[in-house]
This record gives sequence, C-alpha cells and structure tokens, in this order.
Amino acid sequence: MTNSTPQRPFDVEAIRRDFPILQQPLPKGLPVTYLDNGASAQKPQCVIDKESEVYENYYANAYRGVYRFGAMIDEQLEETREKTRQLIGAKHVEEVIFTAGSTMSLNVVASGWGRRHLRPGDEILLNETEHHANFVPWQQVAAQTGAICRFIPLTDDRRLDLSRLDEVLTPKTKVLTVTGMSNVLGTINPVKELAARAHAVGAIIVVDGAQSVPHIVTDVAGADIDFLAFSGHKLYGPSGVGILYGKQELLADTDPLLTGGHMIDRVYRDRSTWAASPAKFEAGTGPIAQAIALGTAIDYVSSIGFDAMHAHEQQLAEYAHQQLNDIRGMRIYGPSLEHKGAIFSFTIDGAHPEDLAQLLDRRGVFVRHGHHCTMPLHDLLGVSATVRASFGVYNTRADVDALIGALEFALGRLRLA
Ligand code: ALA
Repeated sequence: MTNSTPQRPFDVEAIRRDFPILQQPLPKGLPVTYLDNGASAQKPQCVIDKESEVYENYYANAYRGVYRFGAMIDEQLEETREKTRQLIGAKHVEEVIFTAGSTMSLNVVASGWGRRHLRPGDEILLNETEHHANFVPWQQVAAQTGAICRFIPLTDDRRLDLSRLDEVLTPKTKVLTVTGMSNVLGTINPVKELAARAHAVGAIIVVDGAQSVPHIVTDVAGADIDFLAFSGHKLYGPSGVGILYGKQELLADTDPLLTGGHMIDRVYRDRSTWAASPAKFEAGTGPIAQAIALGTAIDYVSSIGFDAMHAHEQQLAEYAHQQLNDIRGMRIYGPSLEHKGAIFSFTIDGAHPEDLAQLLDRRGVFVRHGHHCTMPLHDLLGVSATVRASFGVYNTRADVDALIGALEFALGRLRLA
C-alpha cells in the first residue's frame, strides 16, 4: 500500500519547513503553535502549489470536455482516485467516490443505503462518542424508516465495552457505525474486530475515518470495512473534498443522495437511470482542483509514511500527557495512552474552556473549545465544554511546552495558579 512505503527519513524540522503557515511570526514575535489538527490540518507548500497549478495552467470542468484541459483534469482526478484506493487499501478504484467531506459521505450512506434497506424495528448501532456527523444522519434515517438507534455500552474510561457488545449487537442490527478515532477522546477503535462481529449477525459496518485516516494505517479490504468516510482537509489536503469508500456490491445497492448532471445513464421524459459508481454518487460539478491537490497530499503523507507519523505523534502524546497531568485541577477525558491517538480534551477546575482557549490564543497557542460536535458525549462526561489540543505530523515537544506555558499563563490570569 502507498501508506506504508516512506521515501524520506522522519525529520520533524524538515516537515515543519514544508508548511509555510507555521513559519510566520505572530504579533509580538510569537511562533504559531497549531494544536487544532482535529478540526483541520495545515497544508504543505506542495498542496498549495498544486491547487494553484490547476487554476493557472489547465483548469476545466471534469468528465465533460475532450479538449486538452478537460482531458488533463480527468486524468489527474483519476490519478487521485487511484492514490486514494492505494491509501485505504481498497480493491477497486470504482469504490472510491469524491464527496464534499466526511459529513456528506456519511449522509450518502445513512440516506442512500439506510432508506433503501432499513425497515421498522431494524436496529442501527451507534455509541455516545460519535461526532454529530455520524450520529444525526442515523437519527434522521431512523425517524424516516422506523428503525431504532441503539448504543454500544462504554467502559468507565469511555471505550467501547466489547465484553457487552452481544447485549446490543443482535440479528436485528442492520448497521454498526463507528468512528475509527474519537475526535474528542482520541480513542482508537478496533474496527477489524467490530467488522467481524457485525458481519457475524448480518450487519454492515460503517467507519467514520475523519480522524483515523490522517493518523493511522487504513486497510478497508484487510479489515473488511463496508463503508468508510474521510475528509481531505484533515489529511493535509484542501477543504471541500472528501472520500466515500464503499464495497462495490453495496454501492450498487445504494441510492444517490444528489441527482442531476453526470450521474445518469439515461434520462427520459418521465424517468432516469443511473450510471455505475463512482459517477452515480458524483452529481454536478465537484471539487476539481481540491480533489487533484488531495492526490498531492496523499503523496506527501505517503512519502513520510504512516508508521513514522504515528510513532512521532504517539511520542508527543506521551510527553503531552505527562506535562498536562502536572497541572493542578487538570482532568483529561478518555482512555489511557495505549488506547488513543494524540488528542487531549480536558477541563481545569474553576476555568471555563472558552476563557482558557482565548488566553491560550494570546500566547499563539491555537486549540478548540466547546462540545466539538459531540453533545451526547459531553452530556455523558457531565460537562458542557472541554478544551481540546489535537496534534499533527508537524507538532513538536516545543509545541507541548508552549501549550503548558500558555496554560500556566492563563491560570495566572484567571487567578487559579
Ligand atoms: N470534526 C472536526 C472537529 O472535531 C471539525 O473539530
């Protein structure tokens, strides 16, 4: 697979130099400490250049023109499709669909597969750590079909409690949908095992890969995943483009979410028939330059290698965990390090998360605060908001030190230190 063949030794300082946004000094000469990679990652120069190259040199609409520019666009889009196939270990390139992002990909599955296959009394298996993008569309399809949403029990440290999975995973379950990595707790879920358990009762498995695909090796064929969604912008690629992977036979049995141009086979006055996948799910003009530049982002991360990226991020996670835990009143939510990636959501006694995020910003440390599109999880945690620091390939121990220094500054300002 592309994702396991690094072409350069891991050198975080060299990687940082690839990202122009990290080079600029902030007011007062502060460096940028970007710790909001869970929301979106920064872009290397090669991705920025690729998008400009398309607009400057050969932009045209896709899959429509036989003229030179149109043909170049089509060829490069298909190159990205093939690179994506290799990245996620899919068997067939037709199983890779360009969408607007993870949210749209998950809506295609919930709506296009769910409305066609779910009947009253069928069960959809969720869990309370899911992002709203992998939660609300299923609530909607349940309301439309009479299916019922059920929840995998969680352990005290908010992992999926697989010892209790049989209580909720039964022949009534038609779909188990799960995140590859929690966007709040960082929990890495055992998707291969979940796929086997789901298939044993005749259910399909859907994986929200928005957080996992940029950080750990993905192998949809090896793990026997039925549908996978992820976004380009968290993979150091452009925003506005995402991927839906689906097994060929399931895509053939899924209705398109959007209908119109490009996705048809034949249109008559009174009815239409659909093209095969991927065109069936790519109605209208898609994110052309963005999808092409996503191919460049895939080349970029592949040249570093997912094993090296993951090892680097795990080392950072270990360091961050130690340092954060030394802060008085600190509460980090979720499981211990061996079960998670480099995402930390926390509260500090007496400090409001929004105040903390604003004071951190004054030190050039950028984090997200709020419910992170996971209200059911925050209800369970008993807090309305947390602060989240999420790490990427270009982060360093110096970024962790900047976070800790900024938190101490913030607590001093709030008179909590
Ligand atoms: N889903 C993104 C996040 O968790 C936006 O921040």
